[in-house]
Amino acid sequence: MMAQESQSRAALFDAVYTAYKEFLNPPLARFMKLSGAGVETHARGCYVYDHTGKAYLDFCGGYGVFTLGYQHPAVVEAVRRQLDRMALSSRVFFNEQTAALAKALADIAPGDLRISFFSNSGTEAVEAALKLARLSTKRVHIVSTYNGYHGKTMGSLTATGRDLFRDKFAPLVPEFEHVPFGDLEALDRALPNAAAFIVEPIQCEGGVVVPPEGYLRGVRALCDQHGALLIADEVQTGLGRTGYLWGVDSEQVVPDIMTAAKGLSGGVVPIGATIAKTDVWMRAFGDSPLLHTSTFGGNPLACTAGLAALEVLRSENLVERAKIQGAYLLEAAGELQRRFPEVVAEVRGRGLVVGVVLRHEGYGGVIIPECLKRGLTVAYTLNQQRVIRLEPPLIVSQADIDRALAILAEAAAQARAKLGALSA
Ligand SMILES: Cc1ncc(COP(=O)(O)O)c(C=O)c1O
Repeated sequence: MMAQESQSRAALFDAVYTAYKEFLNPPLARFMKLSGAGVETHARGCYVYDHTGKAYLDFCGGYGVFTLGYQHPAVVEAVRRQLDRMALSSRVFFNEQTAALAKALADIAPGDLRISFFSNSGTEAVEAALKLARLSTKRVHIVSTYNGYHGKTMGSLTATGRDLFRDKFAPLVPEFEHVPFGDLEALDRALPNAAAFIVEPIQCEGGVVVPPEGYLRGVRALCDQHGALLIADEVQTGLGRTGYLWGVDSEQVVPDIMTAAKGLSGGVVPIGATIAKTDVWMRAFGDSPLLHTSTFGGNPLACTAGLAALEVLRSENLVERAKIQGAYLLEAAGELQRRFPEVVAEVRGRGLVVGVVLRHEGYGGVIIPECLKRGLTVAYTLNQQRVIRLEPPLIVSQADIDRALAILAEAAAQARAKLGALSA
């Protein structure tokens, strides 16, 4: 019986792996297999389970999606009920759930951000923001930051600040310019006649880079001075991740347009949102409501998930919790740096997005699979392979943080033993 069971598990893995290799992404499939990834079968809270029944503590957190953990019962239950009534909108009638989520977002968004456009992903939320900014200001120039990450569709990719992702697709969208993150003088030079500056409050995929104190306030002042709109890309930093409801709240800055996605629907149904000040939105779309649309955006299933997720965020006090657990995680990760200074150069972050900066990206090639072997998921940041992100759900316990750091320490010891001292 046991032998049969393990044979059928192995057969499941082979079938799924072969399909990935033949029908999805052959090089990625091989890379994932090499790093020891199994087939995920189910997930709950901070844990994902694979086809062998092994549990993994998830510190990758779906790249920031699972703020509430996996399968939060309140969100799943709300979605289940809505599924029985209506999953997608007719697009002919008004929809109660879409209306309610737009109002809920206006209630909790910074300052006077009020009108939402719903889509299905982070990159779509950014595309909408860029189009809105150009139309609203009647200007075309868009400024973004080196090392920033905004997605991979053509407009967001043009704003994204990593050549590796961009170069092969040239020519990209014209009239985009990049400035160093954290550099107000460079921004001041770039902003005259710009439609907008798009920036993340913390560069998450850029290696968890926290800007200098006062940067966001300075950005706000410069945008005002030059008549450019400020787009805060809160796809990853939004909804409690940084220990603030929104990343810009750390400096009480109100952007003109804001994007949200990852945590917005509680990790149950994909969603993206672009939230704008009313006058900004009206100048762009006031007399042409169909200029930018999405068939699936704002569907009742996703909006129901969003409403339930916002309620969980509030009732479980998760923003505050992210601040407290984040401080604990940063301190624990600091201990890792002190124990393995040859491997770990620095740890940094805010709330529950923490970056472990390695002295050489080669160490990650040992640490990530070693962690997986020991039941912990961690991942590189997309723009910086030298940085491992720790981005657990906001519901994570201190015991799970201790467990994750104990595994990371074993993995770092392996990396040091296997690779010795590598220099950058
Ligand atoms: C700040 C930011 N913006 C946009 C995106 C793109 O989101 P998606 O992958 O859902 O298109 C990401 C994804 O990591 C992100 O971190």
